[in-house]
Amino acid sequence: MSSIIRIQDLRFTEYVTPDDIADRVSAIGKALDDRFKDVDSIITIITLKGAFMFAADLVRKMHTPMRMEMVKASSYKGGTVSTGTVELSGFSESYAGKHVLIIEDIVDSGRTIHALQDALHEKHIASCTITALCSKPSQHDIDISQEFVGFELQPVFIVGYGLDYKEMGRELPGIWRCID
Ligand code: PRP
Repeated sequence: MSSIIRIQDLRFTEYVTPDDIADRVSAIGKALDDRFKDVDSIITIITLKGAFMFAADLVRKMHTPMRMEMVKASSYKGGTVSTGTVELSGFSESYAGKHVLIIEDIVDSGRTIHALQDALHEKHIASCTITALCSKPSQHDIDISQEFVGFELQPVFIVGYGLDYKEMGRELPGIWRCID
């Protein structure tokens, strides 16, 4: 594969290889199993669409019994910068007293996580743990344990491994950084 690809009007170069992603996903899976070692089961909330690939790989590395939910969280609206407005849909289960694991592809401004935490808090959950493939710590105030974060990034726009630009690029096995 070429070291530079074009998606729509933007060019991208490979940033994190599939092998490096796989190593981090395995390590996060182990750390999460340890986090939940004293818990009977958890509910995972997978944020669609972006987290589908990370979640599929991560849960197969875990041994904690879990129920899975998919929640549609949308804030980019096809652009390269978060819009600031988060729409959530798809909550369906009873969460009272449950230990919840949110699986995110990327925490950028943090607005999606804040919206999810607010919605879950109203449902009287027992605990909320966040894992994210990527985080841009300089952009948000969310406190995520580093052992549950795949890669801490500068404020660059990325695609691949579930993340898109104008709905394209999600199928890429690695993470690619915009160079335009
Ligand atoms: C992206 C990404 C996260 C969120 C992060 O979703 O998947 O859910 O934005 O941004 P934030 O921290 O600034 O809220 P997007 O709106 O692009 O929807 P998608 O997952 O369907 O691509």
